[in-house]
Amino acid sequence: MTEKDEAIMGRRLFLKHAAALALAGISFGQRCAWGQANGDASLRERAARKGLIYGSAVSYGPLTRDTGLAASFVRECGMLVPESELKWETLRPSPDKFDFTQGDFMLDFAKKNNILLRGHTLVWHQALPKWFGTVVNSQNAEQVLRNHITTVVGHYAGKMHSWDVVNEAIATWEKQPDGMRNSPWYKLLGPKYIDIAFNAAAATDPNAMLVLNMDHLEHDVKGDDQGRSATLKLLRRLKSSKTPVHALGIESHLGMDGEMFSAEVFRTFLRDVAELGLKIMITELDVTDIIFSQNINKRDRMVANRYEEFLSAALEEKAVIGVLTWGLSDKYTWLSKYRPRDDKAAVRPLPLDENFNRKPAWNAIARAFDNAPKR
Ligand code: G3I
Repeated sequence: MTEKDEAIMGRRLFLKHAAALALAGISFGQRCAWGQANGDASLRERAARKGLIYGSAVSYGPLTRDTGLAASFVRECGMLVPESELKWETLRPSPDKFDFTQGDFMLDFAKKNNILLRGHTLVWHQALPKWFGTVVNSQNAEQVLRNHITTVVGHYAGKMHSWDVVNEAIATWEKQPDGMRNSPWYKLLGPKYIDIAFNAAAATDPNAMLVLNMDHLEHDVKGDDQGRSATLKLLRRLKSSKTPVHALGIESHLGMDGEMFSAEVFRTFLRDVAELGLKIMITELDVTDIIFSQNINKRDRMVANRYEEFLSAALEEKAVIGVLTWGLSDKYTWLSKYRPRDDKAAVRPLPLDENFNRKPAWNAIARAFDNAPKR
């Protein structure tokens, strides 16, 4: 399914629930008690009090240009994940060249501000450089993959909290065996590309936590249910073949229809993952607000409720060690481009508004950390 198809599917699903949501959402908003978190402590401090990590994705351009963003990031975040700077399309301008300029800036920024760094992502079906399709083939694919991983992981060895080694490996709607995504790597190497990637990363940086990062696992809908089953099957296979996977990353790009989430279903999945001896990270959390109310106060409360409902369920599972939002401020969110509102109003999916002020979503995340069991 292309990104466009996913967007269409998502929109159809959202619109199907529009009327129900409009009522449920508002009454849902009224049902949930919400308000200010106690005190002024940052999300980073509140998470750390419970042995958790809070962080966010950020891009090179905004981080270098926008002092307001940089200051807010240092205040609120204990972990940084580069939004695009460690992907193939940025790192690999040509088959024989690596460009670490932007990645090194992010590392330097993190180190200077005592922020942990996580790498995203070593193997994905998107963000591949233009030369990939004409250079990589079934004969050289394994060597190309190993060389990429050993070079990139080696460059940051000892400095990386964790790596998203393989991203979005499951796509049950593509009807491949075991729900595997029919990605260029799968086509070239079969399912063993995942084992090759994790073993190469582990051999290069034994100190980094190695993460299988997945989407479409969060909602109480048929597709995500199939995704959860296929992901558990893949994790069990990797564990039985002693492939060094240490954690599952759950992207958590949340829809906006309250009925699409079941705390019980999600907690059961988290427990099943934890029982495999794996840690869990919420890696790309945001809340799409495209059919929430036009009224900004109402919309902010509905977004906040989705954050609190989701994190209250997720943080009950002690295998969950960290939460990252996919962006910190509404000023910089991928959703502006990929999930715009029909009324053309600016989307408001993140903890801080476009002027870096704390929103109800920030309070919801703060309260979820305050109420979370200590690790
Ligand atoms: O940096 C170039 C710039 O030089 C050029 O002028 C411009 C022209 O379009 O493109 C810029 O690169 C863009 C890059 O973001 C950096 O801004 C790419 O076109 C654009 O495709 C890329 O989009 C990112 C997308 O992943 C694909 O890599 C989004 O910002 C990012 O939020 C999104 O993040 C993904 C996660 O990695 C995986 N999970 C889903 C998530 C959302 O799609």
